[in-house]
Amino acid sequence: MSQVCVVGLGYVGLPTAALLASRGHQVLGCDINPAIVASVNAGRAHLAEPDLDMLLTAAATAGRLRAASAPQPADFLLLAVPTPITPDHQPDLSMLRAAAASIAPILRAGCCVIIESTIPVGATEALAAQLAALRPDLRCPGDIFIAHCPERVLPGRTLLELVENARVIGGMTPACAARAAELYASFSTGPRHLTDCRMAEFVKLSENAYRDVNIAFANELANLGARLGVDARAAIALANHHPRVDILRPGPGVGGHCIAVDPWFLAAGAPDAAPLIHAARAVNDTRPRVVADAIAARAQGRPVALLGLAYKPDIGDLRESPALAIARDLAARGLPLRVVEPHIAMPPPGVAALMDAREAIADAAVIAVLVAHSAFLQLRDALAGRDVIDAAGLISPAPAASAR
Ligand SMILES: NC(=O)c1ccc[n+]([C@@H]2O[C@H](COP(=O)([O-])OP(=O)(O)OC[C@H]3O[C@@H](n4cnc5c(N)ncnc54)[C@H](O)[C@@H]3O)[C@@H](O)[C@H]2O)c1
Repeated sequence: MSQVCVVGLGYVGLPTAALLASRGHQVLGCDINPAIVASVNAGRAHLAEPDLDMLLTAAATAGRLRAASAPQPADFLLLAVPTPITPDHQPDLSMLRAAAASIAPILRAGCCVIIESTIPVGATEALAAQLAALRPDLRCPGDIFIAHCPERVLPGRTLLELVENARVIGGMTPACAARAAELYASFSTGPRHLTDCRMAEFVKLSENAYRDVNIAFANELANLGARLGVDARAAIALANHHPRVDILRPGPGVGGHCIAVDPWFLAAGAPDAAPLIHAARAVNDTRPRVVADAIAARAQGRPVALLGLAYKPDIGDLRESPALAIARDLAARGLPLRVVEPHIAMPPPGVAALMDAREAIADAAVIAVLVAHSAFLQLRDALAGRDVIDAAGLISPAPAASAR
């Protein structure tokens, strides 16, 4: 078993730290947020993830997981800090660079640095150069191993997917990939694909750009259908009977910190070579405004119930949420809103108050389903015969075509 230091205890780092501890590693979790350090040391998760609290309590009780505000020497150092984009859509690697600067003094020959954060192509090499400059006594790579192992987990299924997902492990050298793979072999049952770091960076970004482009196509069909008087969901369902067609379902936009961000990372490396990625981003980024326009046009100043604020079903994560953007947009237009989000306790900035779903729809002239939370399925009967804009596709199954 190894000593592991996980830098950044968020959606990726905390479950990873807890899982590593559950497999017998001695884990130090490090975060610059003192509240997170305190809660982890008390055996509590600061984010909702199935089974995470249980794993944390067990790890803390067994003395295998501890949190601190600074990293400490370890065999493996995992970096899981945020890598957002700037307002002009450039990768912001300042937090990754700060994390690298914080581990540089504690590096020792033989240790392995793994970047789990999502990064643009070339960022692993840049991090190695930064470490080499800070530690001229160490060959980076050479004396230390450096790899990028992008994370693919889905919030809500993180612990399961950490174990079961396939891994792409990109080393700066084959020896770096092999060393990093040893750590994943200790807790992951999915296939492990060893490659180089530029490939791993490109693969991860391609996955999310692929999803963004395909969602944009579905959203564009929804925009076209609305203009041409065709139910796009029904059209997509019929088109998908073609044996080689599998169009995604449209929605209110693309949210979260991955699919809405990672395509920019890929395009940033060579913007003129990425017209499709830019077009998809534009379609998905303007979709919340298109949906808000449709709701406002239907409501004509009357009360509107908005069902859901999260960026995806069955969680309370509001990061980059198109549903939240729609709510804020409609609030700014002065529409009387009744907003429902069962997965959060307090209304976010820009939203006056949260309501119970049945209370919200009682006197609403228009009801907009913005997130396909399973809790809203219970409202099917209450929504029958009401004026519903089902942007999330929760309750309006496409009419079946008669099969012959
Ligand atoms: N959340 C996901 O489902 C997911 C999936 C795949 C990839 N990723 C990628 O993983 C990375 C981390 O994402 P996340 O969702 O866990 O982020 P997060 O915001 O939930 O957590 C990051 C944590 O890092 C801490 N931090 C920031 N700078 C630090 C530093 N210098 N030292 C120590 N701690 C520091 C923050 O306080 C925060 O608690 C990002 O690159 C993201 O794109 C996330």
